[in-house]
Amino acid sequence: MDPKALKDKAISAIESAPSAQELEEILRAYLGKKGELTIALKSIASLPEPEKQEVGKALNSLRDTLEQLAKNQKTRLLKEEVSLHEEQEFVDMSSPGTPAVKGSLHPLTQTQQKVKEIFSSMGFSSVTGPELEQEWYNFSALNVPENHPSKDMQDTLWLKEDSSKKLSSKEPLLMRTHTSAVQIRYMEKHKPPFRIIAQGRVFRNEATDARHEINFYQVEGLMIDKNITVANFRAVLQEFFRKFFGSDNLSLRLRPSFFPFTEPSFEVDMKCGICQGKKSSCSTCGGSGWLEILGAGIVHPQVLKNVNINPRLWQGFAFGMSIERLTMMKYHIDDIRMFYGSDIRFLSQFS
Ligand code: PHE
Repeated sequence: MDPKALKDKAISAIESAPSAQELEEILRAYLGKKGELTIALKSIASLPEPEKQEVGKALNSLRDTLEQLAKNQKTRLLKEEVSLHEEQEFVDMSSPGTPAVKGSLHPLTQTQQKVKEIFSSMGFSSVTGPELEQEWYNFSALNVPENHPSKDMQDTLWLKEDSSKKLSSKEPLLMRTHTSAVQIRYMEKHKPPFRIIAQGRVFRNEATDARHEINFYQVEGLMIDKNITVANFRAVLQEFFRKFFGSDNLSLRLRPSFFPFTEPSFEVDMKCGICQGKKSSCSTCGGSGWLEILGAGIVHPQVLKNVNINPRLWQGFAFGMSIERLTMMKYHIDDIRMFYGSDIRFLSQFS
């Protein structure tokens, strides 16, 4: 064994070690149990005397040199590795963050929440009913005659007979056409007096256009007590609109109308907020100056009898309006289809 050759080989291997981990392996190859230098040291014993001393000295000093060199090399490599890591992982705590994308409630949901809040402040509780209804709740109990045109396939979405049977219903089921069905469900189970609103989705078998959708949302109101008159209805409504539109000078007008479940019945119009009733070319109100906003009336005595409430003791009013229409009027939106288009540019305006 030539100590000089071993020295050159070992030093150049240590100096060119690319990482602290690889340096460990190189060291083991020379100084480990079966390392080249270790073996060379062991073989000294078999050398003749003068050589023994000389080679022994050289190899021992080589071991010291290698150990020292490896130590320095290791410190340098570790330092390099740490600073490389720091560079890659560097986070500038002072740089501005990416703002989180904030979602917002759908405008129709916001209206529903506002409606609930306002009516609750007037003592109305909020109730719900099913979207899939029986004929009794949607029509018969509401005094809608057997052959009324609204029951026609063209207006009402009926379930196929076998689908209704699968849902163990004896009579054909339909998608409710108005929230008035919830009035009956509530009155069947509760004793007057009561004040309720019922919000939810309703379905009509109609062609869709700027004002009509196949499904939309309604809010139904019902107040039954002793000595309730149209004046009470007007006052509740006026207060609701005052709070909903945030304006004190809203004009409402009641027009006679017809619903089988109310007598007398009204259509309520609100003075057009866009032209204030002045512009004959206004596209929002069609030049009439008024916007039709809801249907209402005094609950028909027959409807009360149908749910075992004595109409001589109890009376009240009911109304139903579209949540879409309320929202369109509040924000001057002229196409109902905007609500269902999922267009983020439209929706993000309501955050
Ligand atoms: N249910 C009626 C509709 O959908 C509205 C209404 C409700 C009318 C209550 C009178 C009383 O058009």
